[in-house]
Amino acid sequence: MALDLDSEIDREGTGSVKWEYHTHGGQFAHWDKPSRRYGADRTLAMWVADMDFRCPEPVLRALRERIDHGIFGYSAKTDGYVEAVTAWFARRQGFRIDPDWLLTAPGVVPTLNVVVRAFTDPGDTVIVQRPVYYPFFRVTKNNGAEVVSNSLIYENGAYRMDLEDLEAKAADPKAKLLILCSPHNPVGAVWGAEELTAAADICARHGVIVVADEIHGDLMMPGVRFTPFATLGETAAQNTIVCTAPSKTFNLAGLHTSNIIIPNPTIRARFQEVYAAHSLPGMSPFGIVATEAAYREGEPWLDEVMAYVASNVDHMTAFFAAHIPEFTVIRPQGTYLCWFDCRSLGLDADALEDLMLNTAKLYFDEGKIFGPEGDGFERINLACPRSILDDALNRMAHAVETIR
Ligand SMILES: Cc1ncc(COP(=O)(O)O)c(C=O)c1O
Repeated sequence: MALDLDSEIDREGTGSVKWEYHTHGGQFAHWDKPSRRYGADRTLAMWVADMDFRCPEPVLRALRERIDHGIFGYSAKTDGYVEAVTAWFARRQGFRIDPDWLLTAPGVVPTLNVVVRAFTDPGDTVIVQRPVYYPFFRVTKNNGAEVVSNSLIYENGAYRMDLEDLEAKAADPKAKLLILCSPHNPVGAVWGAEELTAAADICARHGVIVVADEIHGDLMMPGVRFTPFATLGETAAQNTIVCTAPSKTFNLAGLHTSNIIIPNPTIRARFQEVYAAHSLPGMSPFGIVATEAAYREGEPWLDEVMAYVASNVDHMTAFFAAHIPEFTVIRPQGTYLCWFDCRSLGLDADALEDLMLNTAKLYFDEGKIFGPEGDGFERINLACPRSILDDALNRMAHAVETIR
């Protein structure tokens, strides 16, 4: 199959958070010019994890058929949905899910709020591995717990876990949860079985439940294999809440469908009890059919998209080497997000943001929002046509030239 991933799709008027909004004081605010058509004046949106590619044709077909049915009442997972989800994880990830373990939710972030509420008391701590997906901080604080960082070690151009520090932090009786980002957003690391097993053993020994946020687990660079946390062994499986979704994988975030997998019946019952107290919305009929179609028929699309993203990573790396040697790409093993190190420019985090946003007119997720460990880094979203990436690269080169 040859997908057309090169064409730019104007998303103006669709309410696209990525293209029509930016964040301001924790809220979304409209850009003054929400279209690619405004040319060089336009700020390019390369921030939130949402692709500029149309989702797989089988998904579109399933949605059209569902619309033609004409009734969109309250909905919940179907047998076909459960079968498609479990078959996907078994086939793609070697993760065998008992249907009893499978719960649905309108998103991973709402789920994380419920998890922190369910498994911590005020003043308890939640361990995260900064620089990391910033809503982990918010869901912790929202629910009266405190963030403790077991920060990653950045060495020789790659990130790894600090297991000695994790042992020390998990040993604190106040530590109740580790929110593990696997694969890791923003640094693009796909954790290996050895590192994950060590982290799993530490947490199990100290009674710290591991919330494995595996929302990026299907987005592997060609040749990379993902290790689901719950496949590490019975101890890990019985001590985890796994968060997955088709939303990043197939660009369906607006359909608000996620699958939460909890093998341990006691943890599952506690989660369900607190979940019920939140009156979160049930499934959308569109999320149900789109997920089923994506997991049944979306594989060739996904493989082609990830090959395209990998070529964007190569392209950006080569461009930096030739034109902006001050920037270093941390080569992602997974995700379509790419983390790069701009520290040799010598700018502080605010000055770097000013250069990217106001001089280059590029809206990235600034490294600093992932924690202080991210100062001097940027996260760019590479699930976009090559022409948008080229525009961004040229803008960066011109902006850097102004301060050389
Ligand atoms: C690691 C991680 N978790 C969760 C989410 C968001 O999940 P949801 O839209 O299901 O709340 C994202 C989105 O970027 C993410 O990167």
